[in-house]
Amino acid sequence: MARQLKEAVVLITGASAGIGKAAALAFAKQGAKLLLAARRRDQLEEVAAAVRSLGGEAIVAETDVADRQQVQSAVNTAISAFGRLDFLVNNAGIGYFGLLEDTPIEAIEALWAVNMMGTIYATQAAIPLMRKQRGGHIINIASVAGKRGAPGNSIYCATKFAMVGLSEALRVELHGSGIEVSLICPITTSTEFFEASSARSKRFHPPTGPMQTAEKVARAIIRCARRPRPEVIVFPPARILVLLNVLSPRLADRIFLGLRRRLFRGLDDR
Ligand SMILES: NC(=O)c1ccc[n+]([C@@H]2O[C@H](COP(=O)([O-])OP(=O)(O)OC[C@H]3O[C@@H](n4cnc5c(N)ncnc54)[C@H](OP(=O)(O)O)[C@@H]3O)[C@@H](O)[C@H]2O)c1
Repeated sequence: MARQLKEAVVLITGASAGIGKAAALAFAKQGAKLLLAARRRDQLEEVAAAVRSLGGEAIVAETDVADRQQVQSAVNTAISAFGRLDFLVNNAGIGYFGLLEDTPIEAIEALWAVNMMGTIYATQAAIPLMRKQRGGHIINIASVAGKRGAPGNSIYCATKFAMVGLSEALRVELHGSGIEVSLICPITTSTEFFEASSARSKRFHPPTGPMQTAEKVARAIIRCARRPRPEVIVFPPARILVLLNVLSPRLADRIFLGLRRRLFRGLDDR
C-alpha cells in the first residue's frame, strides 16, 4: 500500500531553487512538514511561504551543506521543530563544465564538498535518528550522469557515480532497520543549474539532449516517497543508455563521440 505523506517530516537540501523547490511544493501538497535548507535565506523564505499557501508547514535553515556543523544543525532544527525526521532528500548539488585537464582544483574540491560530502554529512546525521524511530527514507538526487560519464562533465559525473555507490551500499547496510534508501536519476532538467554551473566554469555551456521540468522530477520523488524504489530513472528512454553502457561501454562511447562537436562546444579550444 502507498504511504501517506500527510504530517511526514521532510528535510530537503538545496530547497531554494530548481528540483529542491519543486519537491518542497510537491511534498507540501501532500500535507508534509518541511525543513528547507540551502544558503540563500530570501529564496528559502519564498519557498516556505509557497509551502504554507499550499497547506503545508515549513521552516527554513540557512545551510551550507559543505559545512558539517551547519548540516548537523539543520537536522537538529527538524527534530526540535517537528520531533522526528521521516524523509531526507539529499538534493543540493552544483556542476562545472570543462575538460578535466582544464578544471581548477578549487572547483573540483567544491563539487566534492557540496555533492558528496554534503550528502554524507546529512546522511550520517539522519541515520541514528531514523534508527531510533525504526523508520525513515533517504532519497538521494543523483543523475543519469552518475550511471554513464559524459565528456566535459567529468568531476560532476564522478560525484554522482559516488552518490550511486554510496546509496547502493547503504541500502544493504540499512536493510531490516526500516530505513529505505532511494536514488533518483534525472536527465537534463530545466533549472538554474546550467546558468550557475556556466558562471562557476566561466564559460556558457548550453544543455544538450532531451530536457524535463523540475516538476516532473518532483512527481517522481513523491511517487518514490509513497512507494519506495531502489532507483528511479526519471526519463525512461535514458535506461537504454545506462543498459548499453553496462553491456558495451565502447558502444556507449560512440554515442558521445557522435555528439562530440555539440558537447564540446566552448569547452575545448585547442
Ligand atoms: N538540472 C539538471 O539538469 C540536473 C540533472 C540531473 C541531476 N541534477 C541534480 O539535481 C539536484 C538539484 O539541481 P537543480 O537542477 O535543481 O539545480 P539548481 O536549480 O542550480 O539548484 C541547486 C540547489 O542547490 C543549492 N546549493 C548549491 N550549493 C549549496 C551549498 N553549498 N549548500 C546548500 N545548498 C546548496 C542551491 O541553493 P543555494 O544557492 O541557495 O545554496 C539550490 O537550491 C543537484 O544535485 C543536481 O546535481 C540536476
